[in-house]
Order: sequence, then structure tokens, then C-alpha cells
Amino acid sequence: MNIDKQAIITALRTVQDPNTGQDILTAKMVEDLEVKGNDISFTIIVPSVKSPIKNQLTFACIGAVNSVYPDAEVHVHAKAAGGDKTANTPNNPIPHIKNVIAVASGKGGVGKSTVAVNLALSLQKMGLAVGILDLDLYGPSVPTMMGLAGQKPAIRDVQGKAKLIPIEQFGIPTMSVGYIIEPDQAVVLRGPRLGGIVKQFFQDCLWPKLDCLILDLPPGTGDVQLTLIQTVPITGVVMVTTPQQVAYADALKGMNMFRLENINVPILGVVENMAWFTPKELPDNKYYIFGEGAGKRLAKEANTVLLGQVPIVQGIREGGDEGKPAAWGDDDLTRKAFEDIAKNMLRQMTIRNEMMQPTSIVKTSKDFG
Ligand SMILES: Nc1ncnc2c1ncn2[C@@H]1O[C@H](COP(=O)(O)OP(=O)(O)O)[C@@H](O)[C@H]1O
Ligand SMILES: [Mg+2]
Repeated sequence: MNIDKQAIITALRTVQDPNTGQDILTAKMVEDLEVKGNDISFTIIVPSVKSPIKNQLTFACIGAVNSVYPDAEVHVHAKAAGGDKTANTPNNPIPHIKNVIAVASGKGGVGKSTVAVNLALSLQKMGLAVGILDLDLYGPSVPTMMGLAGQKPAIRDVQGKAKLIPIEQFGIPTMSVGYIIEPDQAVVLRGPRLGGIVKQFFQDCLWPKLDCLILDLPPGTGDVQLTLIQTVPITGVVMVTTPQQVAYADALKGMNMFRLENINVPILGVVENMAWFTPKELPDNKYYIFGEGAGKRLAKEANTVLLGQVPIVQGIREGGDEGKPAAWGDDDLTRKAFEDIAKNMLRQMTIRNEMMQPTSIVKTSKDFG
């Protein structure tokens, strides 16, 4: 039998990486293709040798090659991609995403979504591949803030499994509970059903390879947070607070949950939002409407840093409502505020990744409901 390498490559192009939905050649997951007589051998590059996709891909590759050469002996070797430590975290459903950054707050309305979206855009402008996942069941605002309200994600079949495709805007893939669940349905979700939905956003969503996936969490400490720490290795948390005492107290509680010994998610830093107000006609004046210093105090309390302060600016609110985030707007001061936060966050993330092991996925027998 005369075996043609090109025909094998064409056949292997029909096999998709279950994590990204890309064909495995485009995803550069095939190496060392050799043909000797009736024997065909090649190596597939998987996130880790313990990854559940290893067997899945092996069978799919053998099937694809045998569809053109039914009598050939197909030998598939597997090799770990190496490089990223998080890829080897046991049971990680998103080994191709290097960092998961959770933007959290104690209370609602402090600007968590505003910070999440503008942080993502600023990081992307610095050259990182970034995605946004909106998990705020009670008030998903990423669709509106990104100008994607009313859109529905497409669904694609990958190796017999239905997968959600993130919706892209400004070069950023996004997914939101708001795309798939009506708000009145979302608020009554509890326990295992809610857990199932949160997990789907990681397991059944075709995220591309990313440096950072930014999560917009619901406020406080609830079922979403608990499911999350049991589903993905979170690189770190960015805590958003306003300067008031009440916001500070709730933020501290929220932060302390992540710092519990058996959870152990590092706090990368604090963002103080609505830090002051400067009227356009008095550009040198700062009015501390909500008080002063909460961000710094909170950072100190959690042994972390203040990543930055964002003043109250009408354009930030307008940009949020109109789907034109401030990080892409033409107001230099606000753009710079978010750029500084992104730079500082990146520095903290790099330090964290150098100094500490990847966060473990929390195993717990606790069932919520
Ligand atoms: N620095 C800011 N200046 C002006 N308006 C802001 C600022 N931060 C947030 N907002 C506005 O405040 C509201 C609440 O912000 P949002 O990000 O939705 O909060 P959260 O996600 O914490 O509930 C939104 O209308 C948003 O546009
Ligand atoms: Mg929000």
C-alpha cells in the first residue's frame, strides 16, 4: 500500500481540539509524522499527559487516519505541552488559559463590571490575549458594557459535544450569563443547577488560548464563588471597593473568603473606584464624596497592594451604558487610570506566578442548596 503523508494530514484536519474547537493541525498539536510501510506514527501535544482529552484525541486521530487507510497500523504518542504550570493542575477544564483573574466585590454597584471590562481592554491593548466571562447572575452587565446586549452565542458541535462559542467584541471573546438566561430565571437558580451552569462556561465553551480570562463575579460570597473555586484554578482576585465604610467592611468579608486556608486564592490587589470627583470646570479640585482611604486600608488589611484609583467620571457611566468602554474612549485621564491598574495587576500576577504554585481546585464534600 502506498501511504501519502498529505492524505494523513488532510484526515487529521478533521480532528478538533475539544478545548478550543480548532483543528489539531492549526492548533499545532501534531508532530513527528512518520510513515514506514504500513505503519503510521505521530505525536499529539496535549496540555498534560493526565488530561482527559489525551484518550479522546488519540481515538479521534486513529479513526480519522483509518478512514483513509483502513488497513494501516496507527501509532499515536502523546506529549505534554509543558511550559505553563496551570496546564498541569489536575482536572483543570481550561488548561489552555494561562491565568484566571476574578474581579470581586463585597457589594453591588461599586463598579466591579466597569473595572472588569476596562481592565480586560487595557490588558489587551498591552498585547495580551484576554477574554471576559460574566458570572454575575443577579446583574450581568458585560453584554451592555461591551455593546453586545441581546446577542446569543452560537453553538457548535465538537467531537459530538455541543459547545458555546464566545461572542467577540473589540477583539475580546466574551461570555455572559446574560446571553443565555433571562434575569428573572437567573436569580432563582440555586445549588447544583447553578453549579452546573457555572461549570458549563468553562467545560462547554470554546475559549481560545488566552493569557488572561477576566471573571466578573456576583457581589459577596455565594454559590457562584463556591462553585468557581471547585471548578478552575483561579490565579488571583482583584477586589473592587468604593471609599465608604460600608463598602470597605463588605469587601473585607469578600476578600477573607478567598484567603481561607483551604481555599487560598491570592489577592492580587485592590481597586478603589469612585475615589473622588473632579468637575470639568475645576480640574484641579478633588472632592472625596464617598470618603477617603478605604482602598489603601483594605489592601493593607489583606497584605496586598492598591492597584489604582478611578475617579467618578460621567464618561465612564455613559461609556458603560452605550457599550463604549472608557479604556477605548478619548478621555486621557480615565484611560490612563485603567492602564495603570492593568500594568500594576500584570506586575502582581507575574510576581504571584513566580513565587507561588498554581492555585489548586478546591475539593470539598460540601453540597450547596
Ligand atoms: N468611576 C466611575 N465613574 C462614573 N460612573 C461609574 C464609575 N464606575 C462605575 N460607574 C457606573 O456605576 C454603575 C455601577 O457600576 P458597575 O460596574 O455596574 O457596578 P457593579 O458591577 O459593581 O454592580 C454603572 O452605571 C457604571 O457605569
Ligand atoms: Mg456588575
